[in-house]
Amino acid sequence: MLSGKQVVLGVTGGIAAYKAVELCRLFIKDGATVRVIMTAAAKQFVTPLTFQTVSGNLVYDDLFAGSQRYTVDHVGLAQGANLFLIAPATANCLGKLAAGIADDLLSTTVLAAGCPVLLAPAMNTKMFENSTVQENIDKLTLRGYSFVAPVEGELACGESGGGRLAPLDSIFAAAKSLLLPALELRGVRLLVTAGPTREAIDPVRYLTNHSSGKMGYAIAQAAVEQGAEVTLVSGPVTLPAPAGVRMVRVTTAQEMYAAVLSLYSEIDVVVKAAAVADYRPATVQEAKIKKDGDMALSLVRTPDILAELGKRKQNQVLVGFAAETDNLRENALVKLARKNLELIVANDLTEDGAGFNTDTNVVKFYFKDGQEKQLPRMPKLAVAREIIREIKRIMNIV
Ligand code: PMT
Repeated sequence: MLSGKQVVLGVTGGIAAYKAVELCRLFIKDGATVRVIMTAAAKQFVTPLTFQTVSGNLVYDDLFAGSQRYTVDHVGLAQGANLFLIAPATANCLGKLAAGIADDLLSTTVLAAGCPVLLAPAMNTKMFENSTVQENIDKLTLRGYSFVAPVEGELACGESGGGRLAPLDSIFAAAKSLLLPALELRGVRLLVTAGPTREAIDPVRYLTNHSSGKMGYAIAQAAVEQGAEVTLVSGPVTLPAPAGVRMVRVTTAQEMYAAVLSLYSEIDVVVKAAAVADYRPATVQEAKIKKDGDMALSLVRTPDILAELGKRKQNQVLVGFAAETDNLRENALVKLARKNLELIVANDLTEDGAGFNTDTNVVKFYFKDGQEKQLPRMPKLAVAREIIREIKRIMNIV
């Protein structure tokens, strides 16, 4: 199944290094090409010859021997890889990656990698629980690194607890899902809205909000990962378009309304993560308003796009967001019912790391069938993947 896939397997210096030999064999058996990079400490536990024999390839361990073998090792290895797996990943390895330190072949090559990076930490329980290690894991997660969490069990140091390398079949399964993403949303047409809208007051001023677009762009990315045909209707933000999405750029609520409604009949799922302005100035002044001019601003309602989608719904799945500072549950449930949604994702703006312009979010799902589900603080991409998982469940896609 993995034929044609290139895996770089980084092995760092922990007792679990011997298990990486078997891991390497699993990839080879499944048809992948494996190139192993060992740190100096890893070689204290297993010899390069073992990995060379199992992988059928030279083992890389020296930053300065590169040009004789495989272009410049750290660039050549990084460029060809479909997956970069480090197992076991020691506390030292996580610390170096989190800090961007590149002082050996492994740490240098990871920095040059453009493919997904999967880390399988293994270390003593106390070390794993140490707040510095946990902060490093948080940092790396926020940067998009994936983890296979260690498990509880007997450790080499004689202690028992968390920190034991995850079972090899779990690591292999996680690696496979990154190498061969299940395209379960193939054929599904999904529209996401993201970012704020801007409502002009005069040629130089406008009304808007703090939305950065991060939440909506993450949802678009998570849907593309699963093979959906994604249209991203975005208000003005500074984020680059995620690869593989059809972009529609708008500025005002009215423009977003027109764009979304014109596409609606060809869409299966709508996720409305945009923070649409509820009001716009009743008139837009043609000339810049002078400081000594009339300061009163008369506002009118913008169209409620999601409520309109709810009214016109045929078979579409509608997912809304609720950004609340109080009465999260009551407000979210009112919006869920009033806008005729299958799911509303409520963010409590009073929580740390939730809502506007953060890299993380803390959300609670409220479903049409009465179910509720609270998620912990997570990177927005991880929240997005959870939303996609729920959409698949609603659509009876396994
Ligand atoms: O963009 P980020 O910085 O990453 O921040 C993410 C976010 C906080 C913007 C996002 O998680 C979020 O909560 N988006 C919805 C914010 C919002 O407008 O909530 P609301 O409770 O006012 O609206 C409820 C729902 O109706 C939303 O899905 C909204 O898109 C939709 N709506 C609202 C008004 C309107 N005129 N038309 C709409 O479609």
